[in-house]
Amino acid sequence: LDNGLARTPPMGWLTWERFRCNMDCVNDPDNCISENLMKAMADRLADGWLRRARIQVGDRGPWKGVRISLVRCWGTKTRKINSYLYVIVDDCWLNSTRDAEGRLQPDKDRFPGGMAALGDYIHGRGLLYGIYEDIGSETCAGYPGLQGHFQLDAQTFAEWGADYLKIDGCNERRADLPEDHAAFGAELAALERPIVYSCEWPFYELGPHNYTAIAATCNLWRNTHDVQDHWESVVSIARLYSLLEAEQFQFAGPGGWFDPDMLIIGDFGLTLAQSRVQMALWAIWAAPLIMSNDLRAISAEAAAILQNADVIAVDQDELGVMGRLKVQQGDDAQLWARPVLPRAGDATSCAVAAVNYGDSATELSFTPALAGCAEAAGGYRVRELYSGADGGLVQPGDTITASLPPTDALIYTLTAQ
Ligand code: DGJ
Repeated sequence: LDNGLARTPPMGWLTWERFRCNMDCVNDPDNCISENLMKAMADRLADGWLRRARIQVGDRGPWKGVRISLVRCWGTKTRKINSYLYVIVDDCWLNSTRDAEGRLQPDKDRFPGGMAALGDYIHGRGLLYGIYEDIGSETCAGYPGLQGHFQLDAQTFAEWGADYLKIDGCNERRADLPEDHAAFGAELAALERPIVYSCEWPFYELGPHNYTAIAATCNLWRNTHDVQDHWESVVSIARLYSLLEAEQFQFAGPGGWFDPDMLIIGDFGLTLAQSRVQMALWAIWAAPLIMSNDLRAISAEAAAILQNADVIAVDQDELGVMGRLKVQQGDDAQLWARPVLPRAGDATSCAVAAVNYGDSATELSFTPALAGCAEAAGGYRVRELYSGADGGLVQPGDTITASLPPTDALIYTLTAQ
C-alpha cells in the first residue's frame, strides 16, 4: 500500500498469542487484557529494547564492515536500525456494545483510562500504538465489528491516536472481503493521521488471492493460520511458505508485506535453537517482526535472539525483497536467500538462511552463486549473524558449509567486496 508507511516490515509487540482473551483481571491482574498490561509492555520496550537495537558498524579503514558494539572510535558510525515500536492490543479490549452515539468503546473495567489515554501513554514512551478490530459484524471473540461503521470507526481510531490497525476477518462473508477491506482502507486514507493497515484478508479468503489488490489495499496481510506456541506450528508455517514462495515473493516490498504471524520467541514452546529458526526465517522473508511474549519474564538468551541487530538489519533491509527458497535438501534442510543492500562496492550483497527442521544434525553446502547472490568480482565477505563468526572472503563459486544442529538455523550475510 503506497501510503508512505511500513516501508520496512513493522516491528512490535502484540497481545494475542501469549495473553489471548484473558479477561480475568480479578484473579489474574497481571496477565489480563488491560491498559495495565499494555503499559507494562510499553515500559519494557522503552526501557532497554529501543536502546539495544542500535549497532555500530565500521565504515572506514580496518573497521570497514566490522560490527563494533560498544566503542565508538575513528572509522565507525552508528547504524540506527528499526526497533520493536508498535504496541498492539488484539481481541477482547472492547465493550460488548457501542456507546449511545454508536462509537466503539473499551471495556471500562480493564481500560478505565480510555483508549486515547492509553495511546498517549504509549506515545509518551516513544512507541507507537496499535489496535485490533474485525472487518465483519463481530470480532472472533464476539465483540462489535466494523461492519456498517467504517467511517465512524476509522475516525475514532484516529482520535485515539492509533498508528496501526490489525483488522481480523471473522463474521464476514468471504465474498465481501475484497470490497470491505478496500472500503475501510479508503476511510483510513481519508484521515489526516497515517495508520498502518494490517489485514487478514487472504487468510479468510482461502484462495485464489488477488495479491495485486491486497498489496494495493493493505500494508501487511496474514495468509497463514494462527501461530501457536510450539515448534510444529512454526514448521507448518515454514512448509506453507515453501509451497507458496514462488507465487508470493513478487508482491512483497516497501509498503506491503506477507505476515506469517507473531514471533513466539521467549514463550514456552521453542528451544533457543528453534527460536533461531523462527527469527532467521522471518528475517529472510522480510516479515513483520511482531512478538507475542511476556517481556517481563523473558530469558536473556531469547531476548538476545530477538534483539540481534544484524538479523534485524536483514529483515529491515531497504531493498525489501522477500527471500526465496534456493535449496531443499531432503525433507528437513532448506536454504533461503534474499538480496540486501550493499555495504561495500556497487554489487548487491545477500543474506542466506540455512535451516534444519529435523531431529538429526545435518550439513548444507552452497555457493554464493547457488544462493542467487549477484556476481561480485571482488568476492564476498561472509559473516554468520548469530555467532558473529567471520567466514572470510569467498568467491562466487566457492563452497560454504553450514553445519546445522537439530532444529536450528544459521544466517549469513555475504557482503559484496
Ligand atoms: C484470529 C486471528 O487470526 C488471531 O491472530 C487473533 O487476532 C484472533 N482472531 C483474535 O480473536
